[in-house]
Amino acid sequence: MKNAILTAKGLCKSFAQGGEQVHVLTQVELELFEGDFTVIMGASGSGKSTLLYSLSGMDRATAGEVIFKNRDITKLKEKELSMLRCKDFGFIFQQMHLVSNLSLFENVVVPGYLDKERTAQQVRDYADELLDKMGIKQVKEHLPSQVSGGEQQRCAIARAVINSPALLFADEPTGALNRKNTTEVLNLLSGLNSAGQSILMVTHDLRAALRANRILYLEDGSIIASLDLPPYSAEEEKSRETQVNAWLSSLHW
Ligand SMILES: Nc1ncnc2c1ncn2[C@@H]1O[C@H](COP(=O)(O)OP(=O)(O)OP(=O)(O)O)[C@@H](O)[C@H]1O
Ligand SMILES: [Mg+2]
Repeated sequence: MKNAILTAKGLCKSFAQGGEQVHVLTQVELELFEGDFTVIMGASGSGKSTLLYSLSGMDRATAGEVIFKNRDITKLKEKELSMLRCKDFGFIFQQMHLVSNLSLFENVVVPGYLDKERTAQQVRDYADELLDKMGIKQVKEHLPSQVSGGEQQRCAIARAVINSPALLFADEPTGALNRKNTTEVLNLLSGLNSAGQSILMVTHDLRAALRANRILYLEDGSIIASLDLPPYSAEEEKSRETQVNAWLSSLHW
């Protein structure tokens, strides 16, 4: 039996636009489990990013609950929420949002220093270990502008996991990468997941979605279908692709 790590109940998100309310999320019910690699798919504009932001406390839901560690995070004060985002959650985006005048190493350690339970030296040691694991230790003193897009994204992953988040959120993390870099980033995410990292990733890239052991499909503001898969293995990628493709076709993706 898997433990739930994050639960959304009746989650709604609306935006005011031209004097009208646009209802993007309408009563989303969802449960994420510890150790899972969950992917959210859906058409462009279906609200995938909005859902990710509402679940992770980056944006406030209009109504409903998001339960994490027995607390409804939609009710937290801004300061508590930013602490939670820093310590319990990690984030990766399509655009890496690295700080341009800090080296890769500094980009990774800075959020680590906010965790008062570790000494600065422990944070630096762990950053070195992560940069090594991401295969970018040799360029760690470079500025983001001095490395490739794939290297920047690998740095962003290291930064996202420096505080050992309970849950790693990723919004189209391979959206700006070429095929080779996409594979490398996906392999790193799969590796983190195999080591126990819980991941929630939004993507419309089928190759990225194949890494998940659970795919949720968002349409008309709520989750309308889900597909459970065995843990990813490269050898079974072809048959997995056929299965996921058939499922997506049945949803008219
Ligand atoms: N801040 C905002 N103000 C008004 N409308 C917004 C805002 N953010 C998102 N929306 C609208 O909500 C809808 C869902 O947007 P969202 O970015 O979540 O879609 P998505 O599924 O992530 O799309 P994509 O696959 O293209 O990234 C869109 O119609 C968008 O225009
Ligand atoms: Mg999006």
